[in-house]
Amino acid sequence: MKEFRVFAGRSNPALAQKVCDYLGISLGRRALEDFPDGELSLKLHEDVRGRDTFIIQSTCHPVNRNLMELLIMIDCLKRASADRITAVIPYFGYARQDRKDEGRVPITAKLVANLLTGAGADRVLTIDLHAAQIQAFFDIPVDNLSASPVLTAFMESVDNGPIVMVSPDVGNAKETRAFAGRLGVDLAIIDKRRVSGDKAVSYTVIGDVAGRTAIMVDDIIATAGTIVEGCRLLRERGAKRVIVAASHGVLCGPAVKRLIDADIDHLAITDTIPLAEGAAQIPGLRVLSVSELLGEAIRRIHHDESVSSLFIK
Ligand code: R5P
Repeated sequence: MKEFRVFAGRSNPALAQKVCDYLGISLGRRALEDFPDGELSLKLHEDVRGRDTFIIQSTCHPVNRNLMELLIMIDCLKRASADRITAVIPYFGYARQDRKDEGRVPITAKLVANLLTGAGADRVLTIDLHAAQIQAFFDIPVDNLSASPVLTAFMESVDNGPIVMVSPDVGNAKETRAFAGRLGVDLAIIDKRRVSGDKAVSYTVIGDVAGRTAIMVDDIIATAGTIVEGCRLLRERGAKRVIVAASHGVLCGPAVKRLIDADIDHLAITDTIPLAEGAAQIPGLRVLSVSELLGEAIRRIHHDESVSSLFIK
């Protein structure tokens, strides 16, 4: 069997390197740069003919550039006769527009699925898709891993006194219930409404949080409106400590300032997205790595081994 190759775009070089360190291989060499007119120029410096290949690229900020870069890399590998191309997308952007909930709006998650498939991807490997149903937008295999093993280990490490797991909105209740089950603790759910792109209001919390350590889990922290509002409400309802764990730290717009000002004891995100500017100043911030999770999934996919055990929710 020929050695497999792992390449990376420019979205998250630190994570790509860690994945390769886990796999004990070198990152595939390539020259990737911008032409003066803004188009991308790519040249692979590795032979990929007949090989199993992986491209690591988060479609995080700058989203459009990173997405286009991924598509161009897939095209390049396809034309260089790679045997199989897996798009490894630690953070899958454009996933939050996954249905028409009003007239005259696009379904960007489906568009991205079409683009990836059209470019020539044979499989997708990702982590905590915003909605698991997005897998059905593809007619190729999609492995949707969960960051929950790394987040659960973090939660256990900060465990202190009676705990309640809190879903910051109704949409995330199922995932939060699974965390509560694993930790053997109670569940509470916040009734949140989004009033604009960067503003959410948390009206009430269903469940008892008074005198407890409240752990809020979410898939994405974008503007941090959801988490900061949730934190305010939990404090108001008497939570002793507030801990937040999220898979993807998008941290855009006012997020960093909001999180610096918020009354959060510990905040954990993963490295699916590079840390936003200024975010290192957020008190109690921990960045957990998903590199071993991704590395192990890549190893198993290459060897046709089961990856189901990495899906633990
Ligand atoms: C909502 O459905 C998601 O799970 C997150 O709660 C949301 O995307 C977070 O956005 P923001 O940080 O801007 O409130």
